Amino acid sequence: MDFKQELIFKAQQADKFIAERFFVNENRQKLLYESMNYSLSAGGKRLRPVLMMSVCEMLGTDFNKTADFACAIEMIHTYSLIHDDLPAMDNDKFRRGKLTNHIVYGEDMAILAGDALLNKAFEVALSNTAGITADKLVKSLAVLAQMSGSEGMIGGQVVDIQNSGSDIDEKTLEYMYMLKTCALIRASGLVGAIIAGATDDEYKAIDKYCINLGMAFQIQDDILDIEGDEKILGKPIGSDQKNNKKTFVSLLGLEKSKELVKTYSYNAIDILQNLKRNSEFLEKLTIYLIDRNI
Ligand code: IPE
Ligand code: IPE
Ligand code: MG
Ligand code: MG
Ligand code: MG
Repeated sequence: MDFKQELIFKAQQADKFIAERFFVNENRQKLLYESMNYSLSAGGKRLRPVLMMSVCEMLGTDFNKTADFACAIEMIHTYSLIHDDLPAMDNDKFRRGKLTNHIVYGEDMAILAGDALLNKAFEVALSNTAGITADKLVKSLAVLAQMSGSEGMIGGQVVDIQNSGSDIDEKTLEYMYMLKTCALIRASGLVGAIIAGATDDEYKAIDKYCINLGMAFQIQDDILDIEGDEKILGKPIGSDQKNNKKTFVSLLGLEKSKELVKTYSYNAIDILQNLKRNSEFLEKLTIYLIDRNI
């Protein structure tokens, strides 16, 4: 399999893991399940599950062992997008090529669908159908909880909101990205590492890799918010400007931001190569993401 085929294959496997674990319950909460399913099954790159699976595989363990947590991280990520699009936050109307959740199901149901996806993520992770040891299960759950919460993704969204429309320095911006975007990307790599039984040094290196990848990923997201094609991207461009968001692009300009995407990405690749494992797929993924248009 070449890189592109492998990427598609892994994303399809992630979809399969989700389809095997998420069901629309035909009870009185059916509308809630439909709303959750609407966003969860809308596609998306499945980057976080693919990353978790690939880190696990790089360390010599079958990626099927990550199936429950791969689903969980995608559920948490999807919930973060549903809430990010709400009128009280970025107020966006398109996501993953479809109308946003609140436009279709209403704000009330969209808020609840996000909340329920977060809880479902932990239910699925705890189901442990992949049969990982109790020790790895507890460590992975702790990472997932921390990286999603007030010191992780939610914390970053807070800094994002509080700095809209105001002057911001590079350090605060870095802090914001570290939390709002890197946190879930770190959780993905770290859970993959835990499940594969990484050594302490490997664990630390994978964390650094994910931080660099996550910084590059968010800066590229900001670039696409200006230069992207809405039809390919599946979400509106100009959202950051509309909301007076502070981004690396608004602070440093497009050219400097494009350089930064490369710098972070090549740092990430260096870290992988120093691991002396078979990191070929992750290296290619990192390069592929530098000038992604989706
Ligand atoms: C969008 O994430 C939000 C950011 C952190 C930039 P993705 O670009 O991974 O969105 P999907 O999952 O492919 O829709
Ligand atoms: C969102 O950043 C990060 C999240 C935690 C959801 P953005 O607001 O830039 O993400 P998009 O551009 O709407 O996907
Ligand atoms: Mg946002
Ligand atoms: Mg947004
Ligand atoms: Mg964006």
